[in-house]
Amino acid sequence: MRVGDQQRRTIWPAEDDRAVHIIDQTRLPHRFETLRLTTVADAAHAIRSMQVRGAPLIGATAAYGLALAAASDPREETLAAAAALLLATRPTAINLRWALDDMLAVLKQLPTDHRVETAWRRAAEIADADVAMNSSIGEHGLALIRAVQRGKPVGETVNILTHCNAGWLATVDWGTALAPVYKAHHAGIPVHVFADETRPRNQGASLTAWELGQEQVPHTVIVDNAGGHLMQRGRVDLCIVGTDRTTRTGDVANKIGTYLKALCARDCGVPFFVAAPSPSIDWSLADGIKEIPIEERGDAEVTSITGLTAEGQQETVRLTPSGSAAANPAFDVTPARLVTGLITERGISAASARGLARLFPERA
Ligand code: MRU
Repeated sequence: MRVGDQQRRTIWPAEDDRAVHIIDQTRLPHRFETLRLTTVADAAHAIRSMQVRGAPLIGATAAYGLALAAASDPREETLAAAAALLLATRPTAINLRWALDDMLAVLKQLPTDHRVETAWRRAAEIADADVAMNSSIGEHGLALIRAVQRGKPVGETVNILTHCNAGWLATVDWGTALAPVYKAHHAGIPVHVFADETRPRNQGASLTAWELGQEQVPHTVIVDNAGGHLMQRGRVDLCIVGTDRTTRTGDVANKIGTYLKALCARDCGVPFFVAAPSPSIDWSLADGIKEIPIEERGDAEVTSITGLTAEGQQETVRLTPSGSAAANPAFDVTPARLVTGLITERGISAASARGLARLFPERA
């Protein structure tokens, strides 16, 4: 997607195949900076510190991380150690394990001296496949937005609420939840996005708002607690969110607060869709509430907030009394019964074992 007048992806290999470049998302929206990762430790650090984040991009970065590991030593024990290092970075997004399993399966069957070139090629294929899947999700979601538009008076804007950042910054390109928005905007459909700020890390206020601004999509940042009120007043036509892990039964883990939005949407009769590329589906799990591991992050993200001073310096200030404890679960699970549908690369499915099995019969 666009940054200024340039087309960009969030991750790309260096021309000499010795490094991989990323956009440092901890610097956005105030600074656009890129980083060069040259080792698997760099890749693991980028994921852990959230220089890259978002389930599909975490997967793609892990794939390139294994390519970097292979470039330094392609033996099986080194690759296994590198995969373990990468897997330990963040627990909830299943795309991480999916990408590592894919890379290891391809590399293990090759003689050592063929592994480096194949690792770079396979990582690039994983990145390209992510772009293709998201584009396809965008087309299926576009049909949904068109249907909503048909139900409104001619010329009226379609208002979409999203949570966290499931746009192109969370993927290699296009995004998942925002791909339909971009496709609709490009097709000339008047769309407007309510972006939940998404405390505590504010991915909505900083990243979603920034990328929508780059694409000139009209948007409004709202505090996390405003969505219910807007839905009650009929100001939201449709919710679309992303997912870090969806069970084969359609339970959806996504950024903390997603569940509350789904409850409000159900109460107000607003359709609640989840954009779920197949690498985000965990076919081994049936009960998301009991089985999906939820990342617990440090309390400093809750007790303080980071912003920019008038002089343009990044500054972190404390919000809470020093004696108050804080808890920081980073994701929650929305049960399938609250999800109107899953927008996958193969089409829109009911959030149920039957619905997903119909679209992905090979996994049933
Ligand atoms: O903690 P983050 O920023 O990695 O969380 C991101 C989200 O919750 C996204 O909604 C999710 O990864 C889907 S990304 C297309």
